[in-house]
Amino acid sequence: MRYLSGSLCPPVSTDAVTMDKIVSLSKRRGFVFPSSEIYGGLGSSYDYGHYGVLLKDNVKARWLEAMVRERDDIVALDSSIILHPEVWKASGHVGGFSDPLVDCRLCKQRFREDHLETERCGKRPSKKPGETAECDLTEARQFNLMFRTRVGAMEESGVDVYLRPETAQGIFINFKNVASIARRKPPFGIAQVGKSFRNEITPGNFIFRTLEFEQMEMEFFVPPAEADEWYRYWVAERLAWHVRYGVRESHLRVRPHEADELSHYSRGTSDIEYLFPIGWSELEGIANRGDFDLTQHTEASGTKLEWVDAGTGERFVPHVVEPALGVNRSMLAFLIDAYDEEVVGERQRTVLRLHPQLAPVKAAVLPLVGKDAAMVEMARSLFEELRRHHSVEYDDNGAIGRRYRRQDEIGTPYGLTIDEQTLEDETVTVRDRDSLEQERLPIGGVRARIGELLAADWRSPKVG
Ligand code: GAP
Repeated sequence: MRYLSGSLCPPVSTDAVTMDKIVSLSKRRGFVFPSSEIYGGLGSSYDYGHYGVLLKDNVKARWLEAMVRERDDIVALDSSIILHPEVWKASGHVGGFSDPLVDCRLCKQRFREDHLETERCGKRPSKKPGETAECDLTEARQFNLMFRTRVGAMEESGVDVYLRPETAQGIFINFKNVASIARRKPPFGIAQVGKSFRNEITPGNFIFRTLEFEQMEMEFFVPPAEADEWYRYWVAERLAWHVRYGVRESHLRVRPHEADELSHYSRGTSDIEYLFPIGWSELEGIANRGDFDLTQHTEASGTKLEWVDAGTGERFVPHVVEPALGVNRSMLAFLIDAYDEEVVGERQRTVLRLHPQLAPVKAAVLPLVGKDAAMVEMARSLFEELRRHHSVEYDDNGAIGRRYRRQDEIGTPYGLTIDEQTLEDETVTVRDRDSLEQERLPIGGVRARIGELLAADWRSPKVG
């Protein structure tokens, strides 16, 4: 196994953060709730509260910016979740998208055969499944991960269809539409963000692995001879994206797959791994899919999915390089990497040191004394001005220290305080979430200053 990363790659995380702390903060502050909680919950399913929705939206926006807005060679697509069932036969998912599962006849737990080394026995969590005399494991059986449902009014005449387990196939079957209508010549890419569904049966570790999740996938179509070069390019490009939005390089590494790990379609895959509290785990996958998908869909559909040069008549089936990242898994990595605890003036504070462009709320407007009518009026007026441009909050409820702590916990980078002095000279303090430094600005300059701060380059203060 070769690991590519310029950094130190610690074997375990030395941060204060644990998965339990992230789960608890996510619930306490309204990022993520267990799904169907009042009915006892549904395993590996979560609902996203207000700040979770805003954070997730920001992750998607930053990905789309990097993929589409900042480039000339990638266009967007939004394909259906339910596709023609033949798509999944041609793609190999009906036959091959399965996990090998073993059951324990005694503790009734189910395990992935290929994860037996890292999983824990249901009755003796200090042991691996199969390690004790009390374990009685079945032979492995293949379990398809696709959710099946039926289209049609009547059960008897309906057609079996699947909820998509990846967004990628919707892109491949639209290759001809995009290549001809958008007049694109390889190398070019098609990017898509949308929900995918997998009947995951092993423990999910919060939002790391869930039954439904959003994916951000981009299929980059290239001349066959250029595939290796583009594969290396996208591995580097995607690693740089995570770093650009604040993930510490020391907590990222690239792990190329061994030959026996490769998916049925892949000629080469590298995982960008993050040091989650559960250990180094896949954050994003970059695969060189060769011509597998376009060839399979050409054969199954009878429609030629190839690129033809109208001028020269040159034709070829492009090869595909695919970076694929889960929105929810990316959000989890950002939350974990941002989580920090410190003592300030004898008080412990928890703070999410999120990149300002990812933070759900950019600035909080806080009148120092919530019952002071003049302060409230000035604060409301500043808030009304800022909300037209940014996601901001107004809060006049409770002691100022408590209000700051609440904003720190949701990762708001800037606190704008209206106090006695504001009433005299119309200046406002801007408090920086990470350094706790305060600058005083004329109220009329706050909007421009916030815009400037949000646009600036940023690196995690946890790097030191
Ligand atoms: N089209 C290729 C593909 O889907 P994948 O490695 O199976 O590849 C890509 O998935 C990314 O989607 C993963 O790296 C991960 O970030 C995310 N992902 C996959 N399964 C997931 C699940 N059950 N829950 C949350 N995220 C998941």
